[in-house]
Amino acid sequence: MMDVGRHPRVKLFTYSEVENVSGYIGNFNVKIRKKARYVREKDCTACGECSKVCPIVVPNEFQMGLSLRKAIHIPFPQAVPSSYILDMDHCLGNNPIACGKCYEACDKKCIDYDMQDELVDIKVGAVIVATGMDVYDPTKLDDYGYTRFENVITSMEFERLICSEGPSKGHFIRPADHQTPMRIGFIQCVGSRTQDPERGNPYCSNICCMNTVKDSLLLKDHYPDVEVKVFYMDIRAFAKGFEDLFMRSKEAGVKYIRGIPGEIEEDPKTKNLKLTVENTTTRMVEQHELDLVVLSVGVIPRQDNEIIKKFFSLSSTSDGFYMESHPKLKPVDAPTGGVYFAGCAEYPKDVKDSVTQASAAASRAGTLLSAGKIKIEAITAVVDEEKCTMCGICANVCPFNAIVFEKGAKTPARVIEASCKGCGTCSAECRFDAITMQHFTDRQMYAQVESILSENPMDKIVTFACNWCSYAGADLAGLSRLQFPANARIIRTMCSGRVKDKFVLHAFKLGAPIVLVSGCHFADCHYIDANRWTQKRVEKLWDKLEKLGIRPERLQLEWVSAAEGQKWSKVMKAVEDMRQKVTKEEVEFTKKVLSEDEKPKVAKPVKEKVAAAAVPA
Ligand code: FES
Repeated sequence: MMDVGRHPRVKLFTYSEVENVSGYIGNFNVKIRKKARYVREKDCTACGECSKVCPIVVPNEFQMGLSLRKAIHIPFPQAVPSSYILDMDHCLGNNPIACGKCYEACDKKCIDYDMQDELVDIKVGAVIVATGMDVYDPTKLDDYGYTRFENVITSMEFERLICSEGPSKGHFIRPADHQTPMRIGFIQCVGSRTQDPERGNPYCSNICCMNTVKDSLLLKDHYPDVEVKVFYMDIRAFAKGFEDLFMRSKEAGVKYIRGIPGEIEEDPKTKNLKLTVENTTTRMVEQHELDLVVLSVGVIPRQDNEIIKKFFSLSSTSDGFYMESHPKLKPVDAPTGGVYFAGCAEYPKDVKDSVTQASAAASRAGTLLSAGKIKIEAITAVVDEEKCTMCGICANVCPFNAIVFEKGAKTPARVIEASCKGCGTCSAECRFDAITMQHFTDRQMYAQVESILSENPMDKIVTFACNWCSYAGADLAGLSRLQFPANARIIRTMCSGRVKDKFVLHAFKLGAPIVLVSGCHFADCHYIDANRWTQKRVEKLWDKLEKLGIRPERLQLEWVSAAEGQKWSKVMKAVEDMRQKVTKEEVEFTKKVLSEDEKPKVAKPVKEKVAAAAVPA
């Protein structure tokens, strides 16, 4: 951080928040709120005289509440800039009767109680989202007694206690009596790898196993006689050098016991802990007496992820971490052009992986900026200004905010080509056919439907598959030699969001017995949430078909990922079974009903006029 602070070409905004973001790749406008520090950072020499006289003490957040800080303080030892901040939520203010002591103690007179937040606008070409992570809060897990027993701590609190800059200056003590604990237990996977939402998250937090291995070695280095036990499900030591480290920990005498404890009890007198666990290796229920228990808590997404998500139209996985553009081909790119990820914002990572991803993100951003111009995919949307009725639906459904539309401005919608990714949702939703996609045009789509159904339409399954998941899933099924009906005719679209209701109706009108629309699972759509619009559109179509007396089951919607070749094969077989049950009469009826439905409705003549016409001249 010091290096970053000193770098001549890096502008660091500390104690600041992003307030708003507009624009697009190469052209972002970012509004930043620089919060008032109430201390002029250029003048402050960090002499600390102000803090000495400050009468207010509150728990120190950086030290996990294990020590206290003053209202005027430096947030953490290596903070940049190294100047004081006045915490106005606790400060007594500049009322000489109440306080004002820091002001008097400061020789440089750099304390300014009237300082205001500052709003700064900057223009940037690329953005790297490195918002980090939060840790799981184990207060809900009452059987571990985190809130009841002082000597049950989290792995974050452990880090502070063993750190030389920590509240005990690196002397490892247990909170209840400030004595060095000689029997320490670590419980793994707290808040991770559970299917019970009350006990945490289903994913592996990736870093906890090796963090405990590292901590156990630290303890053994500092206190060779300490007894360390690790209670685990399985140890995941998969990266370079990790297995060695795990072995070193075992050789140093750390005991690894396979089994997750069910309960912790405390002896109220000694504050020692008794832990009950089923050792799944020996299949025995064991009890272990310990002086201190460390809960190895998992990683969770930042609580304020949603704010950044809105600013950049990002999407997130079901776990709540940001989703990359493509897990293999674009692992550091966000779906929004010019935005990249680094670190745990995207998924739990250790330091090495975070640094690797940060370097990749920096070079991706560097490549973009140094080129001076960007190449974009030609598959973008184009608005036909004559047909545009200025309803604004396209702007509303665009997952990338790539359509500019001002309500009341009476100007047609406009596509920002640099932001448009070509999912086609706008075109599919436009009721006036005023948006054309370049490539995958309406004409091409209709032509494909017509060609499929030009011969023996009753035998065909008209299938729309999105490029990234379902089409790839079909490909995988083929490559894996999995059987699926040969009469499936696949029309590729970039996203299932491109499938206009008219394409489906056109297929039915031409005699298709069954139509399948398929795309990525929710949260996997490569165009953020475009497939949510697919779902809504298909639901509307089901309603319409039902009203017209057509069986809605003849339109199927399935989510198949690129890795689900098996599922693709199964879905297609099921759809083929359905197709075989569709009768010729049903198809003929559908064709007739849809043709009639398409005819322009003739307005009924007004009664008076009819009456007037009936009167002879
Ligand atoms: Fe597959 Fe959107 S990309 S549904």
